[in-house]
Amino acid sequence: MLEVKHLEKSYQKDKPALTDINFSVEPGTFVAIIGPSGAGKTTILRSLNQLIKDDGGQILLDGGDLRTANKTQLRGYRRQIGMVFQNYNLVERLTVIENVLHGRLGYKSTLAGMFGRYTEAEKQEAMTLLEKVGLEEFALRRCSELSGGQKQRVGIARSLIQHPKVILCDEPIASLDPASSQTVMQLLKDLTTEFNIICIANLHQIGLAKDYADRIIGIRHGKMVFDEDSDMLSEEILETLYDQNVTEELN
Ligand SMILES: Nc1ncnc2c1ncn2[C@@H]1O[C@H](COP(=O)(O)OP(=O)(O)O)[C@@H](O)[C@H]1O
Ligand SMILES: [Mg+2]
Repeated sequence: MLEVKHLEKSYQKDKPALTDINFSVEPGTFVAIIGPSGAGKTTILRSLNQLIKDDGGQILLDGGDLRTANKTQLRGYRRQIGMVFQNYNLVERLTVIENVLHGRLGYKSTLAGMFGRYTEAEKQEAMTLLEKVGLEEFALRRCSELSGGQKQRVGIARSLIQHPKVILCDEPIASLDPASSQTVMQLLKDLTTEFNIICIANLHQIGLAKDYADRIIGIRHGKMVFDEDSDMLSEEILETLYDQNVTEELN
């Protein structure tokens, strides 16, 4: 279980980016974080794996606090937390399978990683994951030849080969067309259940959040304004989140 308690962050004095964020998520749950631009969504995700130093609170992964972890412990936690990015963060000139295998780097010495030393078992698993994301035929293609949606599916396979307990996705579909967005959301939903992981995705698209996520957390000005099962998301609640009327996006 992932528990966030009283998380606080200010980048500048007297300008809180996050104020008293509290939520906990059980394995097998797909959570969408929605809210206007600048609300603090990325700050939450980056705090969860301690890519940025927050100012206070607790982040507990199966009871262990990431915020007080030492370097070695933090490295261990980060292996358990996969990341999926808006712009995929792939090495474009390398093949699809090499990019998936990069997800294993957190388990290797720098040297073994540098020389691309992967075990047969790791290569087998990379292929299995590529099948799961529907890209087994692309294993030996260079990533630069793939479409955006395909690249994001490589990014998801790369996060899964880490054997994560949690995957954090920062705007995973913001660069994709509507059809690829749906494919990626469906994949995240299915893999969350299949691998019994926690998936947390920052999203702009409220309609897709409602269609695919189990639960939606709304953030505004760095504060949680709701945390509900996605079926509970009503127009009234949405109006509390956005300044302008965006409820038509639900239709
Ligand atoms: N590195 C930074 N330095 C200073 N302010 C930042 C930095 N990153 C984000 N902020 C500010 O923190 C707030 C939340 O930003 P962010 O988490 O990126 O929001 P979102 O992802 O919801 O768009 C915004 O006001 C933003 O300007
Ligand atoms: Mg953001």
